[in-house]
Amino acid sequence: MTGFANAADRAAFIAALPKAELHLHIEGSLEPEMMAALAQRNGVRLAFDSVAAIRAAYEFSNLQDFLDIYYQGMAVLLTEADFHDLTTAYLARAAADNVRHVEIFFDPQGHTARGVAFADVVGGIARALDDARARGISSRLIMCFLRHLSEDDAQATLDQALPHLHLIHGVGLDSSELGHPPDKFARVFARARALGLRLVAHAGEEGPPDYVWQALDVLGVDRIDHGNRALEDAALVQRIVGAGLTLTVCPLSNLKLCVVRDITAHPLRAMLAAGLKATVNSDDPAYFGGYINANFIAVADALDLTRDELLILARNSFTGSFLSAADQAPHLAAIAALG
Ligand code: ADE
Ligand code: ZN
Repeated sequence: MTGFANAADRAAFIAALPKAELHLHIEGSLEPEMMAALAQRNGVRLAFDSVAAIRAAYEFSNLQDFLDIYYQGMAVLLTEADFHDLTTAYLARAAADNVRHVEIFFDPQGHTARGVAFADVVGGIARALDDARARGISSRLIMCFLRHLSEDDAQATLDQALPHLHLIHGVGLDSSELGHPPDKFARVFARARALGLRLVAHAGEEGPPDYVWQALDVLGVDRIDHGNRALEDAALVQRIVGAGLTLTVCPLSNLKLCVVRDITAHPLRAMLAAGLKATVNSDDPAYFGGYINANFIAVADALDLTRDELLILARNSFTGSFLSAADQAPHLAAIAALG
């Protein structure tokens, strides 16, 4: 064990690290207990008759397997209060893990398609983020377009967001990657950029390196979500390193969705060794078995990550965030004090 007396010592170091979480789908933080409670509150019938049965269904062999269940789970989210309560519950978990800043994804098309008002989705999430700000957790909200839907649908969603842009910092691209390359969304991303929004996209989770190239060259993203398959292309790695772009890596997600065959085969150390600015994130923690510290611990134990590597990962989470340099500075100083 490098630099730590034992696994408990390393877990304590991880717990004490100030962290930013940059890849978290708020709908993916819907725990089975809350799903069952909201189903009851809203009179929604679930396909499962107990919390245990919901959890037992969480066995996935690829991204689409997961997405099919994730969209079903969302059906219990109907009111502004539901989105507020969901976000509040995530923020309590984040605070317990010493997360000081969050950049949260939401999937408005998963809700507006069911008749939920866009204003209730964004309003409920933003109200919870406001409460957390008063308790010392800063945040940004990133609206994702569902890539299995058309670009016209994404454009209509951006139209709906216009009255709420004071609450939305950026746009992203998620859902089924294979068969839905980034260039399908070139125009809506260009429009989002012109509106002053920051840009991110899931790329290279299941999709080939070419999708990562497209996210960079066609969409012009500020950050890549996942990016695992970029490692297959040395020129692409050099491009990402040269541009100083951050990858939001999700170890337990990668394990649960069979992006890696085993956590010991996770490429996180290889990413750091290649000079990539990787970060550790939980993606959809209610579905993948752990929040941010659990992700850090799983990958650190499997790869025997050193104190220096963990410090770099924590630092990357702030320097890769959309916080200003001035707002990053106190967090970076707190991390440096642990080094
Ligand atoms: N939506 C929620 N989680 C996702 C993931 N890991 N990849 C793509 N879309 C998602
Ligand atoms: Zn994701």
